[in-house]
Amino acid sequence: NPTGTVLSETALCEIAALADARDLIVISDEIYEYYVFDGHRHVSMASLPGMRERTITINSFSKSFGMTGLRLGYIAAPAPFVQAMLPFHHAMMICANVLAQYGGLVALTQPRDWFKNVLAEYDRRRRVWMAALDQIELPYNKPQGAYYVFIDIRSTGLSSAEFVNRAREEAKLIFQPGTIGGGAGEGFIRGALTQGSPVFEEGLERFKTFVRKLR
Ligand SMILES: Cc1ncc(COP(=O)(O)O)c(C=O)c1O
Repeated sequence: NPTGTVLSETALCEIAALADARDLIVISDEIYEYYVFDGHRHVSMASLPGMRERTITINSFSKSFGMTGLRLGYIAAPAPFVQAMLPFHHAMMICANVLAQYGGLVALTQPRDWFKNVLAEYDRRRRVWMAALDQIELPYNKPQGAYYVFIDIRSTGLSSAEFVNRAREEAKLIFQPGTIGGGAGEGFIRGALTQGSPVFEEGLERFKTFVRKLR
């Protein structure tokens, strides 16, 4: 997020080697671990040789179990890191809400076969998105994982913020500016695959009309 790129095991190993050489801790947000397409594979940073001791893995029930909004997340890290975080966590959070914790318990103890259909539906929407973008000749980063599409809007002559504001006002479409991930995202926007039919298809038609009008 936002580019939908899945880091290869080789890239992760390079990060691990750097962390080892410079004695760094790696904070690895793996919230989209199950959302991977086209044979890409989720490799957990902490599973690489020697990395368990220097990795703080962040995860949440929001994406893996569709529990967004229930505010149930977790970290997996060596005990000394967790000890250092606890006072801050207590002050900030008090505790995760009880409903979410019962939901999380059920989520973790059920088989995960239901997710096959979810992933297939996200893959379908991803393909529809890509076909639409090809049609109007807007380049994008082919999503390998997560549930976003990162679109290059430089050909419209608008900045990320201008595009997002105008899309909202003129076409009732919500995007994030590419700059949510830093200045390098200027000229890009992030769309999400989270809407179902028919809202998704209708929105896509409005998007195509909106972009055509800009040119
Ligand atoms: C990469 C990434 N990490 C973490 C989060 C936060 O998820 P939550 O606060 O719902 O657990 C998000 C939400 O979009 C995300 O995209």
